[in-house]
Amino acid sequence: MASIEFMKVSKSFDKHAVIKDLDLKIEDGKFTVLVGPSGCGKTTLLRMIAGIDPQTSGSVLIDGKDVTKIPPGQRGVAMVFQNYAIYPTMSVRENIEFGLKNNNVPKDERTRLVESISATVGLVDYLDRKPSTLSGGQRQRVALARAMVKQPSVFLMDEPLSNLDAKLRVQMRIELIELHKKLGTTFVYVTHDQVEAMSMADTIVLMNKGLIQQEAPPDIMYRKPNNKFAAEFIGVPPMNIDDLGVGKIKFGFRPESAVLSKNPGGLHFSIHGVIATREMLGSETVYQVKYKNSSYMIKCIEDHFSVDQEVYVEVAANKLFFFGEDGSRIGDEDGCFKDYLEALKG
Ligand SMILES: Nc1ncnc2c1ncn2[C@@H]1O[C@H](COP(=O)(O)OP(=O)(O)O)[C@@H](O)[C@H]1O
Ligand SMILES: [Mg+2]
Repeated sequence: MASIEFMKVSKSFDKHAVIKDLDLKIEDGKFTVLVGPSGCGKTTLLRMIAGIDPQTSGSVLIDGKDVTKIPPGQRGVAMVFQNYAIYPTMSVRENIEFGLKNNNVPKDERTRLVESISATVGLVDYLDRKPSTLSGGQRQRVALARAMVKQPSVFLMDEPLSNLDAKLRVQMRIELIELHKKLGTTFVYVTHDQVEAMSMADTIVLMNKGLIQQEAPPDIMYRKPNNKFAAEFIGVPPMNIDDLGVGKIKFGFRPESAVLSKNPGGLHFSIHGVIATREMLGSETVYQVKYKNSSYMIKCIEDHFSVDQEVYVEVAANKLFFFGEDGSRIGDEDGCFKDYLEALKG
């Protein structure tokens, strides 16, 4: 097991700075998910931990030790990629054993390791099969098993599920959560998918343009986003955000925080709009309501309304968010919060 720490880490390619002065502590034994839009620097961070592509300046520490001069093979980390390379001509057993043979691990020890690890990931019955005869999920498990035989103290995973179909992805998410529980090892998992981050992480590290926007457990990330970026990135549909009409202040509310009704219900924020679209998703319905130049997404358990119908959209005061000109969230402990709340009242 191991913790990871970035201290004032920057990374440039040519003269282009991709990561700037990043400080981050990744806790030992936790499932940490780095999430953010494509190109924000997630893979770059993982590669710095692995030592494949070291930082331009600053230090990376594993278990408190500066690993700058330690080559990738000796850092005690294993990486699983999106395009995992498993050898098609080798059996599952040979694939898993490959790294061990290379490291001259004795035969008995190899057999023991392969058997215990294939049991952990559910591959015992497939050890003699060729990868081409396996499903996508089973192949992904072979890639995991190959990383696991090295008994690393840190697992780095770079979008390992993005090539799988939606159903399998959900199943593999659960398998990874269970695997993490069994192993108790530090997992650092990279994804651009906020649903993956929310469902798997102990801690989410949200990045944008090489900068950390917020670092928090999923529930905090959702209930107390640091800024407009976090508020819009986490949650589907994203938070509704609109101009307050005071300075450059914006207000927001989550799609499921609004109440739709034919008649006004007396909640703090209340507008009378028209339903523009309706998506019935089974357990919930998502409506788009137009009001003046704005449109709001509303998520309801009930499916009571139809397109073109006039409805009230209402939100309780304690479900409203405000964001300052720089995008940061204004908390209810800030003096101006009350004024903004007042400005939103009909
Ligand atoms: N080897 C490289 N050479 C030049 N630019 C790179 C290289 N690797 C990554 N970049 C750039 O760094 C930025 C971050 O990339 P990356 O870490 O792969 O993002 P993410 O994994 O979040 O999608 C991107 O703008 C990308 O083009
Ligand atoms: Mg990437």
